Amino acid sequence: MIVKKLTSSGFRNFNELEFCPNENMNVIFGDNAQGKTNLLEAIWLFCGAKSFRGAKDSELLGFEKQRAVNSLDFVFGGVEKNAKIIIEDKRKAELSGKKLSSAAALAGEFYAIVFSPADLNLINDGPAVRRRFLDTAIGQLYPIYNEKLRNYYKAVAQRNSILRDIKYNLDVEYFLDDFETSLATLSKEIIKYRLRYVEILGDTTPELYSGISGEKETLNIAYSSTIPASAEVDDIKKILKQARKEDVFKGVTSVGPHRDDLNLTLNGNPLKNFGSQGQKRSVCLTLKLSEAKVIKKIAGEYPVALLDDVMSELDKSRQDFILNHIKDWQVFITCCDPSNIKGLESGTVFQMEGGNFCNITVK
Ligand SMILES: Nc1ncnc2c1ncn2[C@@H]1O[C@H](COP(=O)(O)OP(=O)(O)OP(=O)(O)O)[C@@H](O)[C@H]1O
Ligand SMILES: [Mg+2]
Repeated sequence: MIVKKLTSSGFRNFNELEFCPNENMNVIFGDNAQGKTNLLEAIWLFCGAKSFRGAKDSELLGFEKQRAVNSLDFVFGGVEKNAKIIIEDKRKAELSGKKLSSAAALAGEFYAIVFSPADLNLINDGPAVRRRFLDTAIGQLYPIYNEKLRNYYKAVAQRNSILRDIKYNLDVEYFLDDFETSLATLSKEIIKYRLRYVEILGDTTPELYSGISGEKETLNIAYSSTIPASAEVDDIKKILKQARKEDVFKGVTSVGPHRDDLNLTLNGNPLKNFGSQGQKRSVCLTLKLSEAKVIKKIAGEYPVALLDDVMSELDKSRQDFILNHIKDWQVFITCCDPSNIKGLESGTVFQMEGGNFCNITVK
């Protein structure tokens, strides 16, 4: 996957921006609040996913602008394509001149991975961040998964609302059977996708982990489910039924993929409890770069790598790994401190100021 050109107008703090990166390493460098992350965000949105900053569509539109247009020329599988994202009240998209049903329909057309300082909390934070990591990664490869997930969350919300109503009206329990049937079916499908993804991810991580950390420990990644992996739809229905009493008491659904987690261990020891700060950072980086390797395996090409402001959070050897060992794919790195890119052997450095480039240097 190669980004040839991005043009942007009316997006965040970009008036008219034209960005022509090189095919390997691109550093976007500049002071705070100049638009470096905005640039990565503009590229990221072509995956069809939500903003990695959790922004709403209306926040992407430049202040006092009615319309923003981002246009991306890229090459995938040797074919040159163009995608456009138009933001008015909602986000819309076009691919090679054809209107798509939604911006989410870009999923599977363009691939990227993003790594930001917040991802360094993948280990220490609660299970929700690890589920989000899995869901974003799977959703990019299998857009249908996003739909299943949305339907699943809707079904959980409906079940929860019935659970709360039962306290006042016992008759509504009658509706639970139906919701639990669709919940069980969707649970099974989501768990299947996640298990398969974790299995493929696990194949790529040991080598990457030792490359990044230089350590010999074995990194193990396992999906931890509140429902046994072998459970069929009928078994899941039974599990949900058994949980009803407690769930009515708590007012929430206590089992299912919305409660699952990713267990990360080094030599069998849970990383969260026993890992050093450095080991945790290496594992976060490994997970993100493994995500790219899985995309390569399944979609046939490396995604572009968007690495937002991570250099200052990493030590020299990990910085060097990022700058000089990610070969064969296009990388975009943002940073504020020029000393972080001293070790850069080759690439283009784009200096950003006030939403545009003020200097471009080729190394
Ligand atoms: N919707 C918007 N319209 C106009 N400007 C915006 C919008 N959203 C953010 N900005 C501006 O964009 C700038 C921030 O851009 P960005 O987050 O890309 O900065 P950055 O260069 O990554 O900075 P840092 O180094 O601090 O991470 C701020 O000046 C902010 O006011
Ligand atoms: Mg930033």
